[in-house]
Amino acid sequence: MKVLYIKASPKPKDESASHRIAEAFIEEYKKNNPKDEVTELNLHDEGCQYVDYEILCDSFEGKGLMMETANKFMEYDKYIISSPMWNLSIPAILKAYIDLITVKGITFKYSKLGIPIGLAKGKKTVYLGSRGGGYPFPLSLIAFDMRYIKYIFRFIGIKNFKSFILENVDKSPEKTKQNFENNLEKVRKLARKF
Ligand SMILES: Cc1cc2nc3c(=O)[nH]c(=O)nc-3n(C[C@H](O)[C@H](O)[C@H](O)COP(=O)(O)O)c2cc1C
Repeated sequence: MKVLYIKASPKPKDESASHRIAEAFIEEYKKNNPKDEVTELNLHDEGCQYVDYEILCDSFEGKGLMMETANKFMEYDKYIISSPMWNLSIPAILKAYIDLITVKGITFKYSKLGIPIGLAKGKKTVYLGSRGGGYPFPLSLIAFDMRYIKYIFRFIGIKNFKSFILENVDKSPEKTKQNFENNLEKVRKLARKF
């Protein structure tokens, strides 16, 4: 199996809460799937581009960055996404990546009746997120980070979606460490089933 790990926090790994969760997940995953190949895509290091006019025009002609990125995305069987919540949603760079891979004819198509059909079928995704604060109901209704990824991945055909979100990571460092350690087993369990 080919696994793509998409990292959306700009922080160095040892300072990033969302990466720390992903690291624990990947360590457990590799233990259980030693033959699988996990490739890391650090969006900030790789400098993910935003879709501009030129990129868009190229895509209408079936060439360019959108086609290349979407085709590359489709080579994988499983996706691990780590992301912080930013302004109730995901960092713009992760949205920019989604814009590059959501491409008609590669990750989705329209039926004759104009109904969208996802083409990334049979694949799996796990979203590992962190949030500075807490979002119990009804605040959960305004938390769009994981929900956006869940539904855009469903749009491209990926129905097998799991998530884990660590909240309150911006409380005191001691509490955050405790909070992380309290939840480590949940993350590992998720990794064993992925
Ligand atoms: C630009 C920015 C916007 C943020 N917006 C939110 C927010 O809307 N809600 C929230 O709970 N935390 C927010 N935070 C806090 C981050 O979610 C928190 O620091 C993050 O989960 C840490 O993840 P990281 O260390 O992997 O970057 C924001 C942080 C930044 C830098």
